Amino acid sequence: MRIAAFVLAGAVMAASAGPLVAEEEFGGMPAAPGVEETFYTCSTCHSIRLVTQQGLSRESWEETLEWMVAEQEMEPLEPADHNSVIGYLSTYYGIDRRAKAIASEKN
Ligand code: HEC
Repeated sequence: MRIAAFVLAGAVMAASAGPLVAEEEFGGMPAAPGVEETFYTCSTCHSIRLVTQQGLSRESWEETLEWMVAEQEMEPLEPADHNSVIGYLSTYYGIDRRAKAIASEKN
């Protein structure tokens, strides 16, 4: 009985989270954990388009952020924010570009 209740609670939680949508507010980026940190950090100097047109591996995103800090005068991020941004970018703007699929589902 306890197991059944647990499974049911999980199903309800998954359903209430709803599908991911591309948020106009965040330059069309999927609304998911890390979107705010990414948007506000990466759109201060240049268009977020410069970021969202990429599709990079996690490693390449790490290098991109290092390059922003080393050469482009970006303030280094706190470790927690750094992890959110890297996690977000490599999930949605990785080599398989999940964000693109989410944006096109919207229509
Ligand atoms: C302090 C300013 C600043 C911030 C903040 C910043 N960038 Fe940049 N970024 C730049 C500048 C300047 C360039 C252009 C460099 C060039 O083309 O010589 C650039 C270029 C880029 C490019 C294009 C690289 C290419 O191949 O043309 C990417 C991708 C990028 N930034 C990603 C990011 C991401 C991701 C973030 C957020 C974590 C970020 N940037 C935050 C200053 C910044």
